[in-house]
Amino acid sequence: MSEQEKGPGGMSRRDFLKLMGAAGTSVAFAPFVPWGKFMPNPSSVTLTKVPVILPDGTQANLNTFPVNHAEVITYPETADEVLNEEAFRKWQFIRLPEKFGGGRKDVSSFRAYSMVCLHLWCLWKYWPDEGRMRGECPCHGSMYDVKTGTAFIGPASVQSAPSNTLAQLNFEADSDGFMFISPPTWGVNANGVVGYGRFA
Ligand code: FES
Repeated sequence: MSEQEKGPGGMSRRDFLKLMGAAGTSVAFAPFVPWGKFMPNPSSVTLTKVPVILPDGTQANLNTFPVNHAEVITYPETADEVLNEEAFRKWQFIRLPEKFGGGRKDVSSFRAYSMVCLHLWCLWKYWPDEGRMRGECPCHGSMYDVKTGTAFIGPASVQSAPSNTLAQLNFEADSDGFMFISPPTWGVNANGVVGYGRFA
């Protein structure tokens, strides 16, 4: 276990997450917990630009990824498959619908938001169907604007900022359209804090 994965008192992030799950803890505790030490990689300075790897193992390419479509990506990945399955490493990688600009052949067509719902940490997903085109959480009905990551319906929508807007990743693309995740800054005034949010 690296030092980065240890929180206060030497508790590992894995142990911390087990404890949180056992306690049924909610974001109501958020102000009292040093979230930045756990989510999902505590040290932004150690992160580097990495390819966007899709579930089939290929690298996302903006010339081929379908409009109005989403896949689950893992970030940051580690050599530990157990850590890689943490919900806090799961992101909805979305190409926007045409009507929201998803037809553009550049990174502005894409979004990646943490899948951890800002209400009580269930996993939400993007629904591309006509009449939906939004993120929906199955637990208590929070819905997220796909363009911004801000909740507009449900319990997450009535939480105060920054806990009404999902953490996000930013992208770069090379000249062949292959996409990369830019190194994030885990802070509420930047990419956000997974499970806690960001200022939109
Ligand atoms: S956990 Fe998502 S709405 Fe409650």
